Amino acid sequence: MSETHQSLVFSGMQPTGNLHLGNYLGAIRNWLKLQELHRCIYCVVDMHAITVEQDPKLLAQATREVAAAYIASGVDPARSIIFNQSQVSAHAELAWIFNCVARIGWLNRMTQFKEKSGKNREAMSVGLFTYPVLMAADILAYRATHVPVGEDQKQHVELARDIAQKFNNDFGVPNFFPVPEPIITGPATRVMSLRDGTAKMSKSDASDYSRINLTDDADSIVQKLRKAKTDTLPLPETEKDLEGRPEADNLISIFAAFGEQSKQSVIDQFRGAQFSTLKSALSDLIVAKLVPIADEMRRLLSDPAEIDRLLKKGADEARALAAPVLADVRRVVGFVG
Ligand code: TYM
Repeated sequence: MSETHQSLVFSGMQPTGNLHLGNYLGAIRNWLKLQELHRCIYCVVDMHAITVEQDPKLLAQATREVAAAYIASGVDPARSIIFNQSQVSAHAELAWIFNCVARIGWLNRMTQFKEKSGKNREAMSVGLFTYPVLMAADILAYRATHVPVGEDQKQHVELARDIAQKFNNDFGVPNFFPVPEPIITGPATRVMSLRDGTAKMSKSDASDYSRINLTDDADSIVQKLRKAKTDTLPLPETEKDLEGRPEADNLISIFAAFGEQSKQSVIDQFRGAQFSTLKSALSDLIVAKLVPIADEMRRLLSDPAEIDRLLKKGADEARALAAPVLADVRRVVGFVG
């Protein structure tokens, strides 16, 4: 067993409804830089999606849409591996073994399960509860070392770290799995709702005005920003003045992320101005970036057979990478054959 693990990046996104600005700034955009330097695997996690009820036809369509969004945003299928999770059975196989490594107490602490289940815990699927274990399997089936995600996935990556360490300890195989590092970078690791600066921008928010979807046209983007909630003060002078002003903080962070600049430099540019000035400059930035991505997504989706071909090619590559890891795992665990 090697002492050090080759650097490998793994991340994924659920095919459940519209991808939005949070997914783009918190995840996809960081993936693009990483593929310049590292071997990267970017997965469409359809098995995660069925932890809550899905319409099978819509799931298939959403899977192709997420793959199209990756490619249209600049993930290069010739350089990075793009595939949908359910095509590679290693994920499910390793998840079962990890279900026997992870502790119920660890999962009970997962805040996302608590948020998603609310008072209805008993009626949730078992899959929703053990979802972070499947996520650990996604990462470790490839012995991935780095996991670029938004802030909301940090706790899940920490669980993957705990599972890797416990497996290595329990089976007496130090360094068998790497302990994967989350990569949570940029000024927009937690993009907030446009209607409420204290709530995360999310696919499941009932109001479409709460988020900018990757496929929104220019008019909708301008409208949604115009209607975005603000406070009544002029824009601040310093970053410290953003405290207690979540909507201002959110818009300035989004501007900084799109403009590839620091929050302070955005503040310097707009200090004392009205929100309308910032909103209109921000609309221009977002439209210039997202509208070409939406156009390219539409073009790609007009040929679903080609997307399916790319996903199959990616799945073949992923399967080949995971196979020796799973063979090692089987041996370590004591499975015969
Ligand atoms: P998902 O599909 O909810 O989100 C995909 C990615 O988008 C990020 N994200 C955000 N970033 C900033 N601001 C927001 N408002 C925002 N909303 C979403 C998420 O942090 C994530 O990076 N469990 C994962 C998918 C997954 C995965 C994995 C990720 C499954 N297996 C293995 C990494 C490695 C999820 O549900 O992400």
